Amino acid sequence: MIDKISDVTAFAPAKINLFLHITGRRHDGYHLLDSLFVFPALYDRLEISALGREAGENHVRLRIEGPMAQALAGEADQDNLVIRSIRRLQDHLGINGSYDVRLIKNIPVAAGVGGGSADAAAALLACLKLWEHSIAADELQALAQGLGADVPPCLQNRPVRVAGIGEQISPAGEAPPWGVILANPRCPVPTPDVFLAYKQAAGAFSPALPAGIEWQDLDWLARESRNDLYAAACGIAPAIGDLIAALATLPGARLARMSGSGATCFALFDDVAQALLAREILQAKAPQWWSWAGGLCDDRGDHP
Ligand code: C5P
Repeated sequence: MIDKISDVTAFAPAKINLFLHITGRRHDGYHLLDSLFVFPALYDRLEISALGREAGENHVRLRIEGPMAQALAGEADQDNLVIRSIRRLQDHLGINGSYDVRLIKNIPVAAGVGGGSADAAAALLACLKLWEHSIAADELQALAQGLGADVPPCLQNRPVRVAGIGEQISPAGEAPPWGVILANPRCPVPTPDVFLAYKQAAGAFSPALPAGIEWQDLDWLARESRNDLYAAACGIAPAIGDLIAALATLPGARLARMSGSGATCFALFDDVAQALLAREILQAKAPQWWSWAGGLCDDRGDHP
């Protein structure tokens, strides 16, 4: 008899929005986007162990550790996206069981780099592996969408073009060999607040970019695209403006921009070595900011 898998480890990469155009607003208030998601090789780590499968004994115990754990210290268990993801999948598949989850939190929280969404996507995929279960792609997508607008793209871990509110996803080719710096001023900026500020500013919507864009061309990206939430996020956390200015003047930086609803910003370099060097300069200049440097991950299981 083959033993059932009793534990599984998953890596949840952060996401960055290379651009984020807001193209409209739905009747329910959600904003329609045109965005390009890529996934830097900065990971949360998720370890899920089965404690028992007795019917009715559905208990998920979560321990959060790592450099960003403190930011989640006050959060109620039932609000945590990892627990909600596991419960949602259990309900959907009619699977009973209790689980111990260890989450090593390396991705900043409420920071525009998809930390919670990445963990949710990784939890769904990890549980399917643990239960040796597969479900149709559209079912998984619907479950993911119910957990948050950014969760479906985070199931991909490779460059994707995203439209609608995050449910229309298409592959966007290979991850370029760019170097990336991520940095933030250590102030959480809640996504709903930024969208509200954007709405209250009542600016014109942006057009979606054409299909088949040359987004791997950094000059094109800098010239033709932007993040439409930047002004709204800066109004909430003015330090974002200082951060962008600092990133843009680092040697070798080809583009500096905010990701998602902020406050994390990124700078792109032709290669990883330049990003690592530039991060040292940034750290010396502004040690109060959180920062990370590395490359992009792809779907080749490229993780620590
Ligand atoms: O779905 P998620 O929890 O990521 O979104 C948080 C909030 O951000 C939503 O309740 C909504 O106010 C706003 N939002 C939006 N349009 C989107 C995504 C999020 O207005 N496309």
